[in-house]
Amino acid sequence: MRSKVRAGIVGVGVGIPEPVLTNHDLEQRIDTSDEWIVTRTGIRERRVAPPDVATSDLAAQAAHQALQNAGRGAEEVDLIVVATATPDMPWPSTACLVQAKIGAVRAAAFDLNAVCSGFVYALWMAAQAVETGAYRCVLVIGADILSRQVNWEDRSTCVLFGDGAGAVVLAPVEEPYGVLSGVLGADGTGAPLLNVPAGGTREPLSPEVIACKRHTIHMRGREVFKFAVTIMGEVSVQALEKAGIAPEEVNLFIPHQANIRIIQAAAERLNLPMERVFVNVDRYGNTSAASIPIAVYEAWEQGRLKKGDLVVVVGFGAGLTWGACVIRWAY
Ligand SMILES: CC(C)(COP(=O)(O)OP(=O)(O)OC[C@H]1O[C@@H](n2cnc3c(N)ncnc32)[C@H](O)[C@@H]1OP(=O)(O)O)[C@@H](O)C(=O)NCCC(=O)NCCS
Repeated sequence: MRSKVRAGIVGVGVGIPEPVLTNHDLEQRIDTSDEWIVTRTGIRERRVAPPDVATSDLAAQAAHQALQNAGRGAEEVDLIVVATATPDMPWPSTACLVQAKIGAVRAAAFDLNAVCSGFVYALWMAAQAVETGAYRCVLVIGADILSRQVNWEDRSTCVLFGDGAGAVVLAPVEEPYGVLSGVLGADGTGAPLLNVPAGGTREPLSPEVIACKRHTIHMRGREVFKFAVTIMGEVSVQALEKAGIAPEEVNLFIPHQANIRIIQAAAERLNLPMERVFVNVDRYGNTSAASIPIAVYEAWEQGRLKKGDLVVVVGFGAGLTWGACVIRWAY
């Protein structure tokens, strides 16, 4: 009997802008301190894309590297999903721009917006598409340039975010490898806690809107924090239960990199020592949909992911949204 076909990650890549903005740089611009930022968030520096770089540029770079890494050509790709909340333009989708940039001539392409949970949403949806046999080579990309949506005068938000992109290639793999389970969730009543109020159909851009900075990120930090510390652990436990895996079997926990205190709380909930938790929030800050695939790439590059390892990826974000997937690493 043939074993079940699952979707597995067979290549990873990143697109990370070079310019670094440190906490000390921010001290020069706003009333903050490296000490405040590090103790409250764990962030030391973040990357900020230069003005001529757009989301599709970082996404295409990540896609290109992921394909190379997987030993696949762009013409083999049959679907591109870009998780982003900061597209190049309202439309067409950033995924279409990436398709043209990398020459994936056979691929369908669309964007998915679940903000910081976007990569986990895209990964789980794409995994279903591969498992059914409908698609055989899918690029799942998380890419965001939040520095363009940040109010650089608001010290309570501008210190948190950074720019970047990460990509994975999903293809059929045989059991026991691949994406074993996924759990996604949303609570739209929490939309006011974290949003960019203007620039859409509710409040189109106007000089007044821009003067009031309503086209920038608005956040009720403490409430988002409370939501995050609970949901990260809970959704991870749900995804592990669905996969029939005990938390102590997890080799590497790769959470959304928003805040070290949120990551530590989630690890505690799962009773996982921090040695089994991947952290790079200190170097990138919160890169939204890019944060998990960048972390996955770095974990792989550092040799912390080996064939057969059990991995949990878990995210949360505006929406409110959340999601987790359990993966048995396939290469
Ligand atoms: C934003 C966050 C770090 C703030 O930490 P906190 O411990 O909750 O801090 P508070 O909001 O209570 O603010 C404490 C004080 O620090 C001040 N403060 C805020 N930002 C500051 C900064 N960058 N530098 C110095 N002081 C700052 C506040 O004004 C406040 O001062 P006050 O007590 O005089 O009013 C934290 O709430 C958080 O991480 N929330 C989740 C955010 C997140 O992850 N969002 C993305 C989700 S995908």
